[in-house]
Amino acid sequence: MSNPPLEPSTTKPVPVVLDVDTGVDDALALMMAVRHPALDVRAITCVAGNADVDQVVTNSLAVLDVLDAPDVPVARGAAQPLLEVARDARHVHGADGLGAQGLPASSRTPFAGGALELLRMTILDSPEPVTLVPLAPMTNLALLLRAYPEVKDNLAGIIAMGGAAEGGNATAVAEFNVWHDPEAAAIVLGSGVPVTLYGLDVFSQVVVEAETYEALRQDPDPAVALAGRLLAHSHEVIRSDPRVGHGGLIGDAGAVCAVAEPGLITTHRWPVHVALAPGLTRGQTVVDRRYVLGEDAVHGVDSLGHLVDVAVGIDAEATRDLFLTTIGAGPQASHADDTARAVQR
Ligand code: BDR
Ligand code: CA
Repeated sequence: MSNPPLEPSTTKPVPVVLDVDTGVDDALALMMAVRHPALDVRAITCVAGNADVDQVVTNSLAVLDVLDAPDVPVARGAAQPLLEVARDARHVHGADGLGAQGLPASSRTPFAGGALELLRMTILDSPEPVTLVPLAPMTNLALLLRAYPEVKDNLAGIIAMGGAAEGGNATAVAEFNVWHDPEAAAIVLGSGVPVTLYGLDVFSQVVVEAETYEALRQDPDPAVALAGRLLAHSHEVIRSDPRVGHGGLIGDAGAVCAVAEPGLITTHRWPVHVALAPGLTRGQTVVDRRYVLGEDAVHGVDSLGHLVDVAVGIDAEATRDLFLTTIGAGPQASHADDTARAVQR
């Protein structure tokens, strides 16, 4: 089932700030956020992750130009994680972080005051509480919450792409955004601000198949065509994964879909602990999924975790269709996917 075309919302759009490491799927997330009528993108802040922070700024500005969104301020943030050195993900996102799309460099300059000041100002100046959407290592957010804890009073919450209950991607147990800066993630999860983790468990389920993204590539709207090329890039990277290799992932854009339509995901509130010790488990989000008291509680040992709403399920097809409809591709092509799958069964 596809969603009907989007009607202009009668309620006030939700103010959001995206913190990104653009990034193939961050670019898709920017498209989703800028084009969804229920979201009011107040700022974009950049951090080292998929690429170095200057490249992330370059990419984010270039994507916003394709989207014809010149009024959304963009700021450069942390170049390094809190304790370690930056490690990029060029094996996934290409040397330039965007799969070599060759986008023209933007003539815009980033906000001169930097990411922390843009975040502080945007949050404190907003008449309505702001939702933060980190889609990258949480270095900027951790620095913000330590430097300006007063911002917490005007935050509606944080919906982060990060972590996993089951298995990792950067390592066997750690998801890339948390693994890249585990201390930052631990600070954000322990900040007292309500956090929802849109982790790998749901992130890896929303796929756009080849027939659809090939059609997007031919679209006269440059942003839709770019989405088609980015999804094709994603497909190349994950093709050998039997669970998702039948198409390209919308990735971070799924977290933005969940901000626009929270009913797309189901969550469970569990204690989550970020493993910080050096070694195999560093960066793992240990999700305590027990429903009855464990030995530790019986013996009076404190749980190490912070209560977090962990996304445990997603309506993947509705999320894909919301994404396609929102960016302007319409849901028609996704019907072809459904038909193709039905025929294969
Ligand atoms: C996350 O890591 C990055 O490579 C993606 O942009 C996404 O935010 C997935 O682990
Ligand atoms: Ca990202």
